[in-house]
Amino acid sequence: MASSGVALCFTCFLLLLVSFIHASSLHCESESSSSSSCTNPNKHPLVNGLSWSFYESTCPNLDSLIRKHLKKVFTNDIGLAAGLLRLHFHDCFVQGCDGSVLLDGSASGPSEKEAPPNLSLRAEVFKIIEDLRAHVHHHCGSVVSCADIVAVAARDSVFLSGGPEYKVPLGRRDGLTFATRNATLANLPAPTSNATVILDSLASKGFNPVDVVALSGGHTIGISHCTSFTNRLYPNQDPVMDKSLADKLKLTCPATNTNNTTVMDLRTPDLFDNKYYVGLVNREGLFTSDQDLFTDERTKEIVIEFAEDQSVFFEKFAEAMMKMGQLGVLTGSNGEIRGNCSVRNQDYETFLKRYEVEDVEEDKSEL
Ligand SMILES: *[C@@H]1O[C@H](CO)[C@@H](O)[C@H](O)[C@H]1NC(C)=O
Ligand SMILES: *[C@@H]1O[C@H](CO)[C@@H](O)[C@H](O)[C@H]1NC(C)=O
Ligand SMILES: *[C@@H]1O[C@H](CO)[C@@H](O)[C@H](O)[C@H]1NC(C)=O
Ligand SMILES: *[C@@H]1O[C@H](CO)[C@@H](O)[C@H](O)[C@H]1NC(C)=O
Ligand SMILES: *[C@@H]1O[C@H](CO)[C@@H](O)[C@H](O)[C@H]1NC(C)=O
Ligand SMILES: *[C@@H]1O[C@H](CO)[C@@H](O)[C@H](O)[C@H]1NC(C)=O
Repeated sequence: MASSGVALCFTCFLLLLVSFIHASSLHCESESSSSSSCTNPNKHPLVNGLSWSFYESTCPNLDSLIRKHLKKVFTNDIGLAAGLLRLHFHDCFVQGCDGSVLLDGSASGPSEKEAPPNLSLRAEVFKIIEDLRAHVHHHCGSVVSCADIVAVAARDSVFLSGGPEYKVPLGRRDGLTFATRNATLANLPAPTSNATVILDSLASKGFNPVDVVALSGGHTIGISHCTSFTNRLYPNQDPVMDKSLADKLKLTCPATNTNNTTVMDLRTPDLFDNKYYVGLVNREGLFTSDQDLFTDERTKEIVIEFAEDQSVFFEKFAEAMMKMGQLGVLTGSNGEIRGNCSVRNQDYETFLKRYEVEDVEEDKSEL
């Protein structure tokens, strides 16, 4: 009896081992071709020029400077955490994580008042990044890029909202070109897109379906404009949407162009957890691009797994963020370290010179 029990277990073990090896080789196949190692699927190779210890000697307190500041900011308004996370997504998906989204002149940059709601970023988040930059540069000198500050602020937004802690490789430099409106629209899939469109769009940037579902989990915090989901209410209600949610949303958004907002995760709107997926399983996703992840056979099981096991979601989210944070980065001597996140250094010098001249003239007129 006992020996057959052992034998059974040994067979079990072999089966487990085989399925594990199979699973990890599948994982490797779905990685981008730049993946050099398939032995540890959790270890994504770093892009040349990024490192885990980039500011170790030049700004050793970077992490704590940013975290302490954001803790204070979030005590007043935790909603800003979602805004900072969105800023990082937005930066990375459009011409790479180069801080271009922060530039005045970018399609959804700090001075852009005409951006469609699906592109608009909260004005406060630009100010927070610039405040962080000033704070960090005050302590360390102008050595840390705005793009790196955005990446670390996004990580802290996730962590301080209850989500996973993950390490962010650093060494990004700031880009010199604006993100145009066309490039922005072309690279951020619309909330009205179905799963096929989302999967294809992100596959072109090296993301597999697990990454796509995990990154969508960013919608576990934050709010949305009516215009991002009224396609599911008017003229006909999307039959996939839970009826009582649809009725509630029609009150918040009585017409397609209503300028109202609503929370994206009904259950725990300010907590970074797996309840967003529980919402999807209950047909309470807000956007087409959310709910279709549960309809589409390629992603349905992943949604269910994340809804059932938060730790799996956290692990996959961290992996996907690591990938995303390395998209199209500028490193080494490319780009620059901006002295003001909303302007290129060259333009900032012009701005300062004009300012100095005006100062001098004012002094003269006072004399
Ligand atoms: C932007 O895209 C629109 C249509 O997609 C096109 O008509 C326009 O010429 C583009 N603008 C630029 C500057 O590329
Ligand atoms: C954003 O909204 C505009 C209309 O305001 C639409 O043309 C565009 O396709 C949408 N794009 C995204 C990425 O949501
Ligand atoms: C997804 O959307 C695209 C573009 O709108 C459309 O061509 C395609 O048929 C849709 N796929 C499904 C399965 O609905
Ligand atoms: C949404 O906006 C409409 C006007 O467009 C307003 O009547 C309504 O009270 C608003 N609802 C909420 C929940 O803010
Ligand atoms: C929409 O509402 C916000 C406040 O909730 C306001 O700041 C903004 O100006 C409004 N936009 C329009 C176009 O009315
Ligand atoms: C940064 O540049 C903007 C111009 O885009 C200017 O309004 C702002 O005052 C500058 N910030 C600092 C700290 O000089």
